Amino acid sequence: MRRISAPFGFVRDALGAASCMLLSSCSGIQHALDVRGPQAERIAELWWVLFAICTVVLVVVVVLAVWATFRGRRTDETEIALSTRQSTKLVLAGGVIIPTIVLIGLLVHSVAVGNAITSEPAGDALVVDVVGHQWWWEVNYPDRENVSRGFRTANELRIPVGRPVRVQLASRDVIHSFWVPNLHGKTDLIPGQSTATWLQADEPGTFRGQCAEFCGLQHAHMAFMVVAEPPERFEAWAEQQRRQAEEPASSEAARGRDVFLSNACVLCHTVRGTIALGSVAPDLTHVASRLTLAAGTLPNTRGHLAGWILNPQDIKPGNRMPPTNLEPADLHALLSFLESLK
Ligand code: CUA
Repeated sequence: MRRISAPFGFVRDALGAASCMLLSSCSGIQHALDVRGPQAERIAELWWVLFAICTVVLVVVVVLAVWATFRGRRTDETEIALSTRQSTKLVLAGGVIIPTIVLIGLLVHSVAVGNAITSEPAGDALVVDVVGHQWWWEVNYPDRENVSRGFRTANELRIPVGRPVRVQLASRDVIHSFWVPNLHGKTDLIPGQSTATWLQADEPGTFRGQCAEFCGLQHAHMAFMVVAEPPERFEAWAEQQRRQAEEPASSEAARGRDVFLSNACVLCHTVRGTIALGSVAPDLTHVASRLTLAAGTLPNTRGHLAGWILNPQDIKPGNRMPPTNLEPADLHALLSFLESLK
């Protein structure tokens, strides 16, 4: 893929680091100028054009201001009359004509970029339905031809490299905003309305997405991951996700499943292949295959999962999951069961 050629590599890196620090305490996997898809490329191109033009304008204005400050006052009558005429021309050209031309040029360019990034890309698109909840993302992969092949996951989108993905957005509660800076700009999720955006990754990679509209106490902890993979690997992942949860392979995991099914977990979560069919919290059928827990809040490890189950309110205050009171042996069994849900 053609990359944006930054005017100066150093300037790009410095600005990239600064913007990254401003955006979040993140690594380079969430970075609007590290473009990995055609839509992000057009947005970054617009950004660089605006940056270049604004820099030129700033430099010209500062040079003129410094020059005017140090050249001193004229006292000669003829020179004053002459300089008044010159000033009028200067004000007309510099204050009206040039800014009008520049602003119209930028307007035309930004409308063209806006059209390019919102229009439907060519090619057979994958459709993904994303539903925003306070504060997590429900991700559905429908299959229009065979409904039973559709599946659901949470807080993670896997997409095939090189194929356009239509992301259809809805919200269950308040306004959220879907944003994967490496791939595209923001699109709001509005209760009672459906909106949509396009993603396309031109190379494999893992990119962090973030809710970009303040949606309550844990807005900052409403993140997700986008994993772009070669088509064969994506298909293999999708095939695995379509399956029901496998029978526990160990007695520990089997006991953990009993713990899961006899506690309040089943009221909110689904594990396909069991009686757990709750729909107000993430589907856990393949929770062990995901990179993070609690919508990008924690890495998906046994220790973090234990902490999350025992006291999710300490980690993400205000979220809907209540603390769980389990005996240590039950907790370990439950962790073994959840870890088996690959
Ligand atoms: Cu959802 Cu901010």
